[in-house]
Amino acid sequence: MTTNLPVQDPDLHHSVEDPGIGEHVERFTDVDKGAGNRVYYTLLAMLGAVPVLAIAFIVIYFAMPRDWIIHIEFGGATYIHASAMNVTLGLTGGLAVLLIGIAVVQWARALMNDHEMIEERHSAASDEDTRAAALAQWEDGVRDSNIRRRPLLLGALGGAVGFAVIPAVVTLADMGPWPTKATRAETIERTLFAAAPEETIRLVNDETWRPIRPADLEIGQLVNAQPSNLHDVDSPSHPATPKEHHQEKAKASIIIVRMDPNSIKIPESRTDWHVSGILAYSKICTHVGCPISLWERQTHHLLCPCHQSTFDLGNSGVVVFGPAARSLPQLPITVDDEGYLIAQSDFTVPVGPSYFERDSRNDYKDGDA
Ligand code: FES
Repeated sequence: MTTNLPVQDPDLHHSVEDPGIGEHVERFTDVDKGAGNRVYYTLLAMLGAVPVLAIAFIVIYFAMPRDWIIHIEFGGATYIHASAMNVTLGLTGGLAVLLIGIAVVQWARALMNDHEMIEERHSAASDEDTRAAALAQWEDGVRDSNIRRRPLLLGALGGAVGFAVIPAVVTLADMGPWPTKATRAETIERTLFAAAPEETIRLVNDETWRPIRPADLEIGQLVNAQPSNLHDVDSPSHPATPKEHHQEKAKASIIIVRMDPNSIKIPESRTDWHVSGILAYSKICTHVGCPISLWERQTHHLLCPCHQSTFDLGNSGVVVFGPAARSLPQLPITVDDEGYLIAQSDFTVPVGPSYFERDSRNDYKDGDA
């Protein structure tokens, strides 16, 4: 087979005129040695401030009460209402990294040798000559950086970077203390629903705080809900801090869905966990804990917006897609004497993402009885 591709004319080429190098303009630090020295001392001062900021970061981390709040209002509008610790840690840590960045850039711009070079393109092969040339270039670079003449600057940079890393290491303390079984049972593995059945815990609408009756839900409807005793934790007379209130709310957040009982699979062990096809599940994804409520009423699938884990609420919350490894925990519910939905007990497995010590033997798996 022959083709009639056009033959390229070897004489036809589009050359680009060499633009050359513009006239070299000397920097002020080269023209004025005093200015060079001032920049040098300024850089030392910036790098010297980094250890001070790093120490301030550590002191704040350990000494500042975590419930201190910075509140700034102006003209009736609130501009800042944030944790004092987060703000001050951010300022000290951020400023330390910023100072190192500025010092390095200014060092290169103002103090390193300022001669222009032309580097010819060459093949990528790294033969002996090339390696020798690279070493020679490295040596040139070291000489150009003036590090031998001003070794203190390199020491200051190394020290500053070293100090800037310490705060990051110190914050690892937040990963402790190691949670014992007893601690876990009282914290991460317990929700406000645990007060049932001794206490009547109604399921209340997350927005209106009204207790929910089965008749409030149509088939296919999903409602976000909370336990009624969350309201007590929020009251000023309760000893819980705002942070503890948030933690309780996060653990106890649920979704309630109503499905046609004939269209869903109810295992033997959960026949009394629902009320006429109304089921309650944890709202917290078992992958890494995003709140979920993207509901496909036709398929009974619940989709997590973070990494697309999909749970089948018509089949005890088993995972049908995505990275979550565990079914969505289901809350056993019933109705009280006045016909409101209530919790029978706490969740039978811990809610939320997995952790090292978690015992997953009781997690529901597809096909369990
Ligand atoms: S947090 Fe839900 S899929 Fe990742």
